[in-house]
Amino acid sequence: DLVNSKELLERARAGGYALGGFNIHNQETIQAVVEAGFEHRAPVILQATPGTVKYTGSDLLVAMARALAIRANVPIVLHLDHATDLELIEECVKAGFTSVMFDGSRLKWEENIRLTRWVVGLAHSKGLTVEAELGRIGGQEEVTIVSDSEVNYTDPGDARRFVQETGVDSLAIAIGTAHGVYKNEPKLDLQRLEAIALAVNVPLVLHGASGVPDAAITRSISLGISKINIATDLKLALAAALRSALLAKPEENDPRRYFAKARGEVKNVVSQKMRLFGIEGRA
Ligand code: 13P
Ligand code: ZN
Ligand code: NA
Repeated sequence: DLVNSKELLERARAGGYALGGFNIHNQETIQAVVEAGFEHRAPVILQATPGTVKYTGSDLLVAMARALAIRANVPIVLHLDHATDLELIEECVKAGFTSVMFDGSRLKWEENIRLTRWVVGLAHSKGLTVEAELGRIGGQEEVTIVSDSEVNYTDPGDARRFVQETGVDSLAIAIGTAHGVYKNEPKLDLQRLEAIALAVNVPLVLHGASGVPDAAITRSISLGISKINIATDLKLALAAALRSALLAKPEENDPRRYFAKARGEVKNVVSQKMRLFGIEGRA
């Protein structure tokens, strides 16, 4: 069955590798991620944003993830990504998600602490793990747009206090990555990452990792990142494959034909990321 991310992330942190938090959007992308996990004997974090939960339904996401967890026989986490709405968190907890992110990064310090604590209380009572965010990560993730001037890198001392006061299981930090496609190559503040990793005793999460050069990813893992979120690179692969399949054969009307290849392309990207994150064989 599905598991929470506690032990998987602690093991990644101790072992110097990272789990992928792969954003999924439909059945085909869920299958692509799980199949890659199966082939590489890698634990898998499937993550759905609030928009994906609305699109597919929390019940259906849980049912698909559970069925695939049985087939794949590798640990699978179903994680709610970037939730800001407490009711949606309650719904996903009830439905059978095993991990949630409460994103209070736009809130004032006190309010972020208060609501994150509330989520931790609820989630822990049901055996789920909680990720929170401190600082502000740039770019656009669905409806959340953070402009360059609103970006706020995570302060190591604040991160330490935040983790102590909230009891979160992992922390998403802002060190120069951004959601979506980069206009210029991102510069990660690795010194800051090092300082945060020393100050904080829970696994750290890197968001906005699509488009970050491989060398920077490897370096960030060695400095203390234990979970890496990938959404855009999977969306780009899916869209490109569907577009080319439909354009190549405009008369094709069998969705299984054009989706099968696209699903394979998403799986290839997930496989590359798994190798890069050092997570092969860790299941
Ligand atoms: P990217 O879309 O840049 O990969 O960011 C993913 C992410 O952080 C999901 O939470
Ligand atoms: Zn994110
Ligand atoms: Na990105």
